[in-house]
Amino acid sequence: MIQQSNNWVPLFPEKASSFAWQVDALYFYLIAISAFFTVIVVAAIFYFAIKYREKEKFQNGAEIHGSLLLETTWTAIPFLLSMTIFLGGAIVYYNQYRPPKDAMEIYVVGKQWMWKFQHPTGQREINELHVPVNRRIKLIMTSEDVIHDLYVPAFRTKADAVPGRYTTLWFEATKPGKYHLYCAEYCGLNHSGMIGWVYVMEQKDYENWLAGNVSSQTPAQAGRELFEAKLGCASCHQQTDQGRGPKLAGLFGKQVKLTNGQTVVADEEYIRNSILNPQGQIVEGYQPIMPTFKGQVTEEQLVALVEYIKSLGNETASMSK
Ligand code: CUA
Repeated sequence: MIQQSNNWVPLFPEKASSFAWQVDALYFYLIAISAFFTVIVVAAIFYFAIKYREKEKFQNGAEIHGSLLLETTWTAIPFLLSMTIFLGGAIVYYNQYRPPKDAMEIYVVGKQWMWKFQHPTGQREINELHVPVNRRIKLIMTSEDVIHDLYVPAFRTKADAVPGRYTTLWFEATKPGKYHLYCAEYCGLNHSGMIGWVYVMEQKDYENWLAGNVSSQTPAQAGRELFEAKLGCASCHQQTDQGRGPKLAGLFGKQVKLTNGQTVVADEEYIRNSILNPQGQIVEGYQPIMPTFKGQVTEEQLVALVEYIKSLGNETASMSK
């Protein structure tokens, strides 16, 4: 990948993600437009103040009638300009907030006052995130307490981590290095200390790092343990359709029909809600008998359960919808 020349503007953070230049381009475009019109307006004020100054006492100004050409022009130009701003903003927004399908997924849990990361291979980190360069990374985030906001200036991206739901953020780092990570939502006494580093590594270095930080369990393995033993989910959600609860193999990403006639997609949020608020979305053909697990599972255990149910996706391809 070709690197953009770095800090040509002092005070600006490095550009280290695939869409960083787009954010900067949009920003400078807005600054340029604002500066251009500021200069014109200020110049016009001075020019008219001098040109139309009072030349004799109690003089009356000439009568002015409307001009269609003038009215049209000063409506059309701002309209066109604001449309370019809107389009530019929309393009950058869509690029940033629609995570690509092939991204590597890392779970993030924010809490007062730290960031916890968990890799799909099981490695856990606090206030540090190691990622490979030139690889799309999707962060699936939530919070254990209040709203936090993950912000990496060098990647020009940020998103809230909100208690009670999953939000996502994605980026593709383009340059190996060490980049500041911030919480960008005031979250209490130690908000300013809720900071860390993102380490962007060459693929080889990343693999070495993974190898040197072996975790005992991947999220999916931990989830399996919870599902089968600790929480006893498996007693109702069996491998067959005969269980008291729906079969979960092959569920992830599929459409689910509910008793109220709605159809929803079984994504991370759906699974999470089904665990915490099972009465909210009852699958067609089943009774509302599942107890809530609210207060009994931590955010990290929820992540593990979600990952386990995701991992069941490929086991049976012929799962009914
Ligand atoms: Cu977390 Cu501010």
